[in-house]
Amino acid sequence: MAVYVVDHPLVRHKLGILRMESTSTREFRTVANEVARLLIYEATKNFRTEKHVVRGWAGPVEVEAISGKKVTVVPILRAGLGLMDGVLDMIPGAKISVVGLYRNESTLEPVEYYVKLAKDLEQRLAIILDPMLATGGSLIAAIDLLKKHGCRRICSLNLVCAPEGIARVEAAHPDVDIYTAAIDDHLNENGYIIPGLGDAGDRIFGTK
Ligand code: PRP
Ligand code: URA
Repeated sequence: MAVYVVDHPLVRHKLGILRMESTSTREFRTVANEVARLLIYEATKNFRTEKHVVRGWAGPVEVEAISGKKVTVVPILRAGLGLMDGVLDMIPGAKISVVGLYRNESTLEPVEYYVKLAKDLEQRLAIILDPMLATGGSLIAAIDLLKKHGCRRICSLNLVCAPEGIARVEAAHPDVDIYTAAIDDHLNENGYIIPGLGDAGDRIFGTK
């Protein structure tokens, strides 16, 4: 497993806005999607292309097109929806597989409440979206589910990760790569990432 921290001035700047307590719901949503665009840019860097010839303004010209990549984007409800628009801006044809999970607040274990997956998962790259990788329980549950349904190629986009969660995901699913804007310091006693962003779902949906 590889963890790619997308280290770029735009990402660092935008992450700073997300960390600020005073950032409004509206701005948080906008900036989360902007960071998602930058993470998906990195996550798709190994997509293969095929050359072909098209008619250009000055005659035939050789161009490239992405070859054979069937993708499903997998937002983990609900906070993962906060990254979806940014990712679909870049991969507009992707099918969407929705996985509804929430963390039980006392056990911190993920609880599944809704699943609707794309067809042909065995032929697709699944790109899981969730702003926060904290204990790793939600991401592991989502990967378990996708694999159970035949998916063989999976990566994850997370705005912020805790080292503890990365270690758990790596132990359970060493074949899954993670693309993130930051690996933070630690989890607090309530399973929140420090310094983190706070409750990402609440910040994206404007609930508290
Ligand atoms: C948050 C977050 C992740 C999960 C991460 O979801 O969006 O899904 O916690 O924590 P973990 O790594 O310890 O599993 P939450 O349960 O708050 O639900 P929500 O997205 O519906 O707000
Ligand atoms: N879920 C969040 O939204 N934030 C955290 O810090 C941990 C889990």
